[in-house]
Amino acid sequence: MIIEPRMRGFICLTAHPKGCEQNIINQINYIKSKGPINGPKKVLVIGSSTGFGLASRITSAFGSGAATIGVYFEKPPKEGKTASPGWYNTAAFETEAIKAGLYAKSINGDAFSNEIKAQTMELIKADLGQIDLVIYSLASPVRTNPNTGVLHRSTLKPIGQNFSNKTVDFHTGIVSEVSIEQANEEEIENTVAVMGGEDWEMWIDALKAENLLADGFTTVAYSYIGPAVTEAVYRKGTIGRAKDHLEATAFTISDKLADVNGKAYVSVNKALVTQASSAIPVIPLYISLLYKIMKEEGIHEGCIEQIQRLFKDRLYTGDAVPVDEKGRIRIDDWEMRDDVQARIVTLWKESTTENLPAAGDLTGYKKDFLNLFGFDVAGVDYQADANEMVEIPGLV
Ligand code: NAD
Ligand code: NA
Repeated sequence: MIIEPRMRGFICLTAHPKGCEQNIINQINYIKSKGPINGPKKVLVIGSSTGFGLASRITSAFGSGAATIGVYFEKPPKEGKTASPGWYNTAAFETEAIKAGLYAKSINGDAFSNEIKAQTMELIKADLGQIDLVIYSLASPVRTNPNTGVLHRSTLKPIGQNFSNKTVDFHTGIVSEVSIEQANEEEIENTVAVMGGEDWEMWIDALKAENLLADGFTTVAYSYIGPAVTEAVYRKGTIGRAKDHLEATAFTISDKLADVNGKAYVSVNKALVTQASSAIPVIPLYISLLYKIMKEEGIHEGCIEQIQRLFKDRLYTGDAVPVDEKGRIRIDDWEMRDDVQARIVTLWKESTTENLPAAGDLTGYKKDFLNLFGFDVAGVDYQADANEMVEIPGLV
């Protein structure tokens, strides 16, 4: 069928299999062009189908020759109805990995559940024995705690004061004022329960209890800090509390890994257009300004460039992993450069509906957003009939 983007709010309801495939091929080619990485050989990626997790899986496989298992939560296709983009991404990745002689299998389901953890561990036991890297890259608005059965919902709210600032609707380009009421204690706790480190620790505990972690094991989860303009709603808001918890959990996990000479890290990544970040107020305006500046400076990166740098220049250099004063890996270093952030402050004040098209990179934002769903990808014929019923070759 002919597949076109169908937008609803911050999401696109359709995805293009050929566009998603082309995105994967482009990312694989990028990784190959950067040369081999002396990295992990057996890798589990939790949240492997889109964004940073997908880039981590591609980098592990095509940079370091790793066998990979991916865990994700994606919607399969039905006749006449497309799958979610992460489904097509995974199908394309596993097709290419298998073609290249690399082991690639995956599990589609709720990573927060005991069942999916058990299924994943069975697969590791049967096929890989032990693993040397776990990437934890989930972004979800909800989590059911498997031990209590309680469903937690995260919120994106400031703490201790109401918040008011500019934002942009990136579909229309209209800059407006958004006001968000401060969170109550329960909303803070729920957000920490969803996006904090509890589930990451559960995964590592479970894997360790089954002796599935190789000597020298590493695990990495992703965090974000960001600029002053988003601080009240992001890093000092509910999601920031969850990130504080995630970052603290790295130390808890590291302590537990001493006997396998293992270590847990948090990597602070750059702001990028993903399904998760598009839903956060204020962030799209920031990203459109940031893209403009970083592209002008020649320091713009997408998920794949970020993760290639994480592996090559931070995790697998052969030397100690460089971290900041809080023990975090920083690949947001270029985003946070003083000159970049100084320009953000100025542009932020000046941003209006009228001048944002010139001051910011709204075009780049929109293109990246469409690209997430496989649309507006160079080299893809969108007039051609596309088969929506794509299968994932390594799906268990
Ligand atoms: P994303 O939405 O692109 O990816 C989320 C992944 O989680 C997908 O593979 C999805 O299938 C999977 N997932 C969600 N719920 C699941 C569930 N219940 N069970 C199994 N899989 C599930 O998000 P992203 O932007 O790549 O975010 C990944 C991490 O990176 C998050 O911790 C995020 O905070 C962090 N991060 C994001 C940015 C950014 O700007 N996007 C910047 C820095 C850090
Ligand atoms: Na991800």
